[in-house]
Amino acid sequence: MREIRPIEWANGTLRLLDQTRLPSEEVIVEAHGYLDAIHAIKTMRVRGAPAIGVTAAYAVAMAARDLDTSDKTVFMERLEAAGVEIKAARPTAVNLMWAVDRMVGIANAETDKSKIKDRLVEAAISIEKDDEAINRRMGSHGIELMPDGGSVLTHCNAGALATAAYGTAVGVIRAGWEDGKRFKVFNTETRPFLQGARLTAWEFKKLGIPSTLVVDSAAGMLMRRGEIGCVITGADRIAANGDTANKIGTYTLAVLAKENGIPFYVAAPTSTVDMSLSDGDQIEIEERASSEVTEFRGVPVAPDGVEALNPGFDVTPARYVSAIITEAGVARPPFLESLDLAVRSTGY
Ligand code: MRU
Repeated sequence: MREIRPIEWANGTLRLLDQTRLPSEEVIVEAHGYLDAIHAIKTMRVRGAPAIGVTAAYAVAMAARDLDTSDKTVFMERLEAAGVEIKAARPTAVNLMWAVDRMVGIANAETDKSKIKDRLVEAAISIEKDDEAINRRMGSHGIELMPDGGSVLTHCNAGALATAAYGTAVGVIRAGWEDGKRFKVFNTETRPFLQGARLTAWEFKKLGIPSTLVVDSAAGMLMRRGEIGCVITGADRIAANGDTANKIGTYTLAVLAKENGIPFYVAAPTSTVDMSLSDGDQIEIEERASSEVTEFRGVPVAPDGVEALNPGFDVTPARYVSAIITEAGVARPPFLESLDLAVRSTGY
C-alpha cells in the first residue's frame, strides 16, 4: 500500500490533500504562500493537530521566503507577525503554536542572514519527517495495549491524514495489526464534520483493516453490551496533569468507558503536551461555525434560522485516561510525573 501523506512540499509549493472533499474525491490544493496555508488550516482542508503543526512550519518557511528585507531585525519583526497570524488559524491544537515557535526560534538563532530562508525550509522538512518517525515509534510502544481478539473503538480521525504520515491513534491500531494482532475496529462517525465517517473509514479501507462505522451516540450501548474492549483517541492538547483536549465527544466516550470498566487510551506526540498549562480548564476550546451543525455540504439539516452551538473540542479529565502513548513510551498515572519524564526525554 502507498503511504497516505496529506502534505507534500514540492518546488516551493505546499500540496495538501483536500480533506473537505474526501472520501468522494482525492483533490490536491496548493498553498503558494503563508496566507494560503492559513486559509487551508481554517477551512479544514488540512486538519488534525500534528498535520496542522507541519503545515504551520511550512507556512513560516514560506512567509520568510517571501520577505524582502536585508535587515535582520526588520525580518524577524515581520516573521514574528506572520507567526502570530499563523497561530491564530485554530486555537486548540498546541502543535500549531509549537511549530511556529520552533521555526521562529530557528530563524532567530541563525547568525548567517543569507542562510535563514534555506534553513527554515530544511527545518520544516525535518518537522515533517520527524512526525512520521515519531508516529511509528508511538505505534510500536502502543502494540502492548492492543488486544489480540476483542475490539477497539476510535473517535474522529487520528490517522495518517491528521499527521505527516502513519497517524497517532490509528497508527497504534495499525501497528497492532502489523504485529499480527487481530481485533475488531469500530470508528465513530464524529458529528458534525464527520472526520470518522469520511476520513477514518477511508483510511481503514486503504489499510485493509476491516472497520465498522457507528454513530457517535451508539458507543455507550456497545460498551454496555461488552462489544468494546478499549477506546483509543488522539489529542489536540494535553495539560501537564494529563487532562486531554480532543474532538468533541471524546469526554463522553471516556466517561462511558470508565463506567463500563473499559480502558481509555490517548496517543499523541510529546509536542501535543503543553507543560505550561497545569490543567485542562486552561485549554482554549475552538467554537466553530453553527452552519457545520445546521447544514451538511450546504444542504440544510435543521430548520432555517435555528440556533446551534458548535464547540470543536472537549476536555477529558486525566482521571478517565488509563494511559497516554507518546513516542517516549506508555505514560501511566500520575501523569504529572510520567508526562514530565516523557517530555524531558524527547527534548520537546
Ligand atoms: O477538528 P480536527 O479534525 O482538526 O480535530 C482533530 C482531532 O480532534 C484529532 O483527534 C487530534 O487532532 C489528534 S490527530 C492525530
